[in-house]
This record gives sequence, C-alpha cells and structure tokens, in this order.
Amino acid sequence: MRTQVAIIGGGPSGLLLSQLLMKAGISTVVLERKSRDYVLSRIRAGVLEQGMADLLREAGVAERMEREGHVHDGTNLSTAHGMFRVNFKERVGKSVIVYGQTEVTQDLYEAQDALGATIVHEADNVALHDVTTDKPYVTYEKDGQTHRLDCDYIAGCDGFHGVSRPTIPADKRQEFERVYPFGWLGILSRTKPAAEELIYANHPRGFALASMRSDTLSRYYVQVPLTDKVEQWSDQAFWDELRRRLPDEVSQTMETGPSIEKSIAPLRSFVNEPMQWGRLFLVGDAAHIVPPTGAKGLNLAASDVHYLLEALKAAILDKDAGALDQYGPRALTRIWAAMRFSWWMTTLMHRFPDQTDFDQKIQEAELHQLETMESAQITMARNYVGLPY
Ligand code: APR
Ligand code: PHB
Repeated sequence: MRTQVAIIGGGPSGLLLSQLLMKAGISTVVLERKSRDYVLSRIRAGVLEQGMADLLREAGVAERMEREGHVHDGTNLSTAHGMFRVNFKERVGKSVIVYGQTEVTQDLYEAQDALGATIVHEADNVALHDVTTDKPYVTYEKDGQTHRLDCDYIAGCDGFHGVSRPTIPADKRQEFERVYPFGWLGILSRTKPAAEELIYANHPRGFALASMRSDTLSRYYVQVPLTDKVEQWSDQAFWDELRRRLPDEVSQTMETGPSIEKSIAPLRSFVNEPMQWGRLFLVGDAAHIVPPTGAKGLNLAASDVHYLLEALKAAILDKDAGALDQYGPRALTRIWAAMRFSWWMTTLMHRFPDQTDFDQKIQEAELHQLETMESAQITMARNYVGLPY
C-alpha cells in the first residue's frame, strides 16, 4: 500500500487528522492496534474548548455535538468556605461544550466511513522505518501476514504507550515529567447530574469533581491514594466519600445509582521534545500527558492536529517544506501553556500527602483570590476555555 500520510493510532488525534487531511485532498491510511469497539468503549474526557469545536466543524463532524452537547458558560469551585462560580462568558466572552470524547470518536469514525477512509484495525507490531529519509515506510501484521505501507510522512497519534515516540532515539529526545502522588477514582452513572455546571471541590479529605455527559449521565471523581485498588471501592463507599467532599447543598439533593464504569487513573504531567524526527510527527498523548484537572488532554490533541494539518498542507499542496519544521515549536508553545495551567489547577485543588498547614493556608489564600479578584478569574477563564490557536 502507498499513501501520503501514514497515521499510527485511531484515537481522536489520528481520526481527526485523517478526516481533515482527506478533506484537503491528501491521502491517509490509519493503523490502529485495537478493534473499533474497543476504542469506542474507553471512557475519557468530556470538555471541549471552542477551538476544538471549531476544528470539528471544519472537519464536518460537529452535527451531533451541536445537537447533544451542552454549552457551559462557567464552572463552580468549592472550598471549605462554600462554593463560588467563575463565569467564563462574562470574564472572557467564551464558553466550553460538554460532550464526551467517546462521542467525538464515534462521530469521527462515521465521518471517516462516509469519506471512504482506510482504517486498518487490529494492526499488530506496527514498526516505523527510514523515518529520517524521504522514503519512510511502516510495517504491520494483520491476520498473520506482514504488510508494508509506503508514505511521505508519518503522524504518530498512538497515545502514551505507542511505538512512535520510542522510534526517536533516546539520545535525540528529552522527557519532562511530574508524577503526582495520587490518582482519580472515577465513576459513570445513569443519574441526573448534581448541578448544571461542573463542580471542582477542594476538601480536607481530598479533591472531588462532579461532571456529566448528558442530562441523564453523570461522571464523578474523587482523589484517592495511588495504593487504592478499584475493587476496594463499592459504589456505596464511592457515593459516601463523594458526598463528604461536595458542598452540603449539592450532596443532600444528589441522585445516586449503580456505576456503569469505575476506574482509577494516575495523574501525570509529561512532555517529549522534540515532536518531530525526520518525517515523523508526534501528535496528542504520544507527545504529552496532562493531569485531567484542567480538562486539557483532548483539547491539546486537537491543537496539535491543527498545527500539523497546516504544516502538511503547506508542504504537500504548496511545496513549502520549511513549514514542517514549524510544527513542533508552534505546538509546544501552546502545550507548555496548558501544562502550566493543568499543573496549577492540580496543585491548587488537591490534598498532597506531605502538605503542611502552611501549604494549606496558601491554597486557601489563592482560592480566596480566585473568588474575589476579577483578574485572577480572567486568567483562569482564559486558560480553561482554551488559549487561541
Ligand atoms: N500501533 C497502532 N495503534 C496504537 C499503538 C500501536 N503500537 N499503540 C497505541 N495505539 C492506538 C491506541 O489503541 C489508541 O486507540 O493509538 C490510539 C491512541 O489514542 P489515545 O490514547 O486516545 O490518544 P490521542 O488520540 O492522542 O487522544 C488524546 O486526550 O483526553 C485525552 O488522554 C486522553 O485519549 C485522550 C487524548
Ligand atoms: C470529565 O467529565 O471526565 C472531566 C471533566 C473535567 C475535567 C476532567 C474530567 O477537568
């Protein structure tokens, strides 16, 4: 097989890039290790920045998002002294859309089908070759046979555990990392959301988040020690703990029910530099991870796709090869801004195991500033709704 852009990974990054490239008349092949059902069974994030929503519109996959997504003009922050709201719309004139990553991925698959895209599922042992020459290629196994895909460029969209990043020699790249000493225990339940907008709670027992997917589907999280196992947490224990950490007025009226999904995710900040190695370009989780506190993971994948799309269009359609070298630096500027915001919000909202009384007073002072200072709210709102790209 031959294509212009070989895309490794059929998650949101790979599918969105493929969709936008095909719409620009550039050919793609997507190689995905798992089945489509498996990819669509993963429960992930749920908050879309306006920039990502615009990109989905450009890709022609926004119809269901416009219909079923919920526009949120602000968010709630809960502290030991009560709850307050940051009004994004009022502070910076923008909002976010609550619409699940699983739904985005489903919509992308359907749009790719409609364009006649080539997506190879259950592609095993994907390997990248001759990446620093002008004739790179990819090999993979499918149904016991080895296949070869020749291409002009490779997009590594294969997530944190993929093969693309390790293809860059260890002495040619640098990893920047912070691992946080706690995880998030999350559940999905067929219950009415606790509030109209999200609630991020700073509580002496640890962080909690009340989120949602729709009017009838809720997503909740509580901070847990990394040593906790999901089997230790019955649904009842989860609801009891969540109730303790959310404001009383919310806990008293909150609907509870059986969990549909329950899992623990560790929190990590991670960036790999550079994002380009010859004709290989890393995109999304393959290049960086943020802790979920700022809801930036999926949105950063989208801005990477935007920058790479611009670079590939310039290189392929306008024969401007220099544009490709701009991809990494442009994407990284925005990535580090989102890294800082996610780290800040994580640090502000969680209880750290070694947190002193002094540290706690500092958290409280910062939350008080956020509650009372317009400039602090503007900074938070500007980052939360997404920096421009
Ligand atoms: N070969 C082929 N495909 C692979 C390989 C491989 N060796 N390794 C991983 N993959 C596939 C995974 O099965 C997955 O479907 O690559 C895809 C990567 O998808 P994601 O992990 O979802 O990463 P990405 O598309 O960059 O999405 C960004 O935003 O909310 C965040 O972390 C969240 O998934 C999210 C991300
Ligand atoms: C979610 O709904 O899963 C969610 C929302 C906001 C976050 C993180 C996760 O910051």
